[in-house]
Amino acid sequence: MSTLTTSPAWQALEQHYTEIQETHLRQLFASDPTRGTRFSLEAAELYLDYSKNRVTDTTIALLLELAKAAGLENKIKAMFNGEKINTTEQRAVLHTALRAARDADVRVDGVNVIPEVYAVLDKMAEFAEKIRTGQWLGHTGKRIKNIVNIGIGGSDLGPVMAYKALGFYSQRNLVFRFVSNVDSTDFIEATKDLHPEETLFIICSKTFTTQETMQNAVSARAWSLAVLRDETAVSKHFVAVSTNATEVAKFGIDTSSMFGFWDWVGGRYSMTSAVGLSLMIAIGQASYHNLLEGFRAMDTHFRTAPFEQNMPVILGLLGIWYNNFFGAASHAVLPYDHYLTYFSAYLQQLDMESNGKTTTLVGSRTDYETGQIIWGQPGTNGQHAFYQLIHQGSKLIPCDFIAFSKSLNPLGQHHDLLLANVFAQSQALAFGKTPEEVIRDGVKPELVAHKVFAGNKPSNTIMAAELTPFTLGALVALYEHKVFVQGVIWDVNSFDQWGVELGKVLAQNIAQQLINHQTPPLEQDSSTNALLARHWQRQK
Ligand code: F6P
Repeated sequence: MSTLTTSPAWQALEQHYTEIQETHLRQLFASDPTRGTRFSLEAAELYLDYSKNRVTDTTIALLLELAKAAGLENKIKAMFNGEKINTTEQRAVLHTALRAARDADVRVDGVNVIPEVYAVLDKMAEFAEKIRTGQWLGHTGKRIKNIVNIGIGGSDLGPVMAYKALGFYSQRNLVFRFVSNVDSTDFIEATKDLHPEETLFIICSKTFTTQETMQNAVSARAWSLAVLRDETAVSKHFVAVSTNATEVAKFGIDTSSMFGFWDWVGGRYSMTSAVGLSLMIAIGQASYHNLLEGFRAMDTHFRTAPFEQNMPVILGLLGIWYNNFFGAASHAVLPYDHYLTYFSAYLQQLDMESNGKTTTLVGSRTDYETGQIIWGQPGTNGQHAFYQLIHQGSKLIPCDFIAFSKSLNPLGQHHDLLLANVFAQSQALAFGKTPEEVIRDGVKPELVAHKVFAGNKPSNTIMAAELTPFTLGALVALYEHKVFVQGVIWDVNSFDQWGVELGKVLAQNIAQQLINHQTPPLEQDSSTNALLARHWQRQK
């Protein structure tokens, strides 16, 4: 048995779970008319209503005890202070330094990293302005109109999510495309209607060795040079975002056109590093700095607010409560804002690559559930697709609803209808509909069971006045820190990702066979051999 599950805090929660597992949200609300406001928090322009969770004051107190027992306070300090908490890679974890104030002092190995952070931000701003104002010209003297970000994982999901999220604020005479998949269709479709003379590629890769990105980068160079017919054109049409100057130079991009970052920024935490270059070009430096301020406001809240009022701490603990005590394997994130189309996909990497682990910091195996399966898509569309299962299915799926009071694109009654839906959904999930209520509606007896909603399905609602760069920053930082809290409780390293390595190595091996048309005898397992043989046969 692990230290976690045998700890008094955990055992107390297990005992408490047996006491309240049958308690219905209807009872909890009936017994406390102030519940809707009492279980709420405000921070960094975000309002969190967590009253529709299956918790009492005792639950929260016990969960806070668990956080305390895990040493969360010191772990937060260690992260913000640049200690090497990514122990398997011996790295500091300082994405928070990327959005610290210009006069902050954050040290890694005794050196203040903030001047370097701002040197890169200033270089990005200068470049972004040149593109936005048309001062940066392509090889043939034409203005750059298209920006294609090539990257994958954290070098793609942050940029594409944030670009879509802040589309309202973007410069509309520029076209942005995001290529990530090694499937050539991605590159071909993204560039089909673009002209190389007017196209800038941002090759975005922390390591600059990622197979998918490097393959797309090679194809992008070939695509450009097929028209521009001059190697020197690369300097006008390619820039790099990376930590690896050697590989950038090897690829043929002058390191003066490289926007650097550091090994203390994890890929999935890199949205506010130079990885945000495409976003800065899209929304401009002023809006980009508003985004950073939103991140910073949430960082400050996380670092300083007492745990009982700390939004990421509360969200993280609620996630633990459902995952570990109610056995809820997944968690849905449901934004009621069309601009947040990619938000759940972004959170999938952030959360699942961080906490999808079963080895503790000291190398033993967890005997408890860890990372939740994160999924979702914009709300109203989901209502007509998968909400049925959340409402009446056999699985418990806690949800986060995200909504904004003002629409960026007001149109007639649209926004009232949108918000009516988000409020109604959390209400329906929490309170359901009893058989008595269904009968009172005059439903035929044989249909009553079908029309009953058990309710007692937990959800959080996160609201802000408006989707702005600031509120997006606060929202992303909220989830980053929530993931951190959970990683601390589960005692895993949220900042490495060894689990993606094996597939990469095996793919390289198989790729050699495919590229070299190496015919049998095959050296894989019998299933892979059969798949390869069939593929060769069909490809002929
Ligand atoms: O393979 C996983 C991963 O390492 C992610 O963590 C990372 O965001 C992605 O690949 C891309 O890596 P890079 O930015 O080095 O190309």
